[in-house]
Amino acid sequence: MEERTAGVKHIDMRAAWNQASPAYQRRHAIPTDSAHYGPWAPLENELRLLGDVQGRRILEVGCGGGQCSIAFAKQGAVAAGLDLSEVQLEHARALAAAEGVAVEFVQGAAEDLHHFADGAWDIVFSAYAFQYVADMPRCLHECARVLRPEGRLVFSLDHPFRDCFFDDAEREMTLYPARSYFDVTPMTWPFADSEVWMRSYHHTLATWIEMLTTAGFHLLRLLEPAPPAEMLDEIWPYDDPLSALRHVPPTVIFVTARAG
Ligand SMILES: C[S@@+](CC[C@H](N)C(=O)[O-])C[C@H]1O[C@@H](n2cnc3c(N)ncnc32)[C@H](O)[C@@H]1O
Repeated sequence: MEERTAGVKHIDMRAAWNQASPAYQRRHAIPTDSAHYGPWAPLENELRLLGDVQGRRILEVGCGGGQCSIAFAKQGAVAAGLDLSEVQLEHARALAAAEGVAVEFVQGAAEDLHHFADGAWDIVFSAYAFQYVADMPRCLHECARVLRPEGRLVFSLDHPFRDCFFDDAEREMTLYPARSYFDVTPMTWPFADSEVWMRSYHHTLATWIEMLTTAGFHLLRLLEPAPPAEMLDEIWPYDDPLSALRHVPPTVIFVTARAG
């Protein structure tokens, strides 16, 4: 691991996502008719965690190419998206124009939502972005600030159990735990076999719940959806040596409410 990550001490995540964006958007066919919760989870149109979004004000943090915000706008919400990467946002703006919807896209960090007023949003949503946020307590504090009382914060990320099966030295998933569930040192890895280095942050489930409570959120639901069967057959067929990973939840989704 030291050899692979030698010299990768500081990572400019904005530059990293700017570089990774074209490949990320090519690789993932992210829908714009439903919000999603990541590559291995059922869509929001199936899970219905947000209810009817018609007329709701939804801020998406770490919106990437904007697909979820666009889906919300198509379903009648007032949507805005914030992301660190201006290249991801270029993709988002072009996509919104092509889809004929108005979404405000703003460049910024999840830890600093100063662009948005206190209590201005019904829902803060995030899909697969919070694991890249270095200062999560500050981010959650900002999410609470911009939400109205009882507003919802709903977000997904890599399940912390899954992190244990990722060997960042070998750049691949493993059959046996490659790192301890209790090891909270940041994970440093090259994006999709490129030379673009990424950093992501592992917190235990207990820490997530603690951080949410401290920021003033009530946990309403915690979901660990199994991927749809056809996805599993594709990514880990039973004859794959790593097929045991079929039994580890890939995604966790938190549904929370800001205290009134
Ligand atoms: C895996 S992508 C997910 C993007 C989008 N939600 C999706 O589902 O495609 C992670 C996104 O988080 C953004 N990101 C990383 N760190 C961030 C931060 N501190 N603040 C805001 N966005 C961040 C990246 O630029 C990237 O677009």
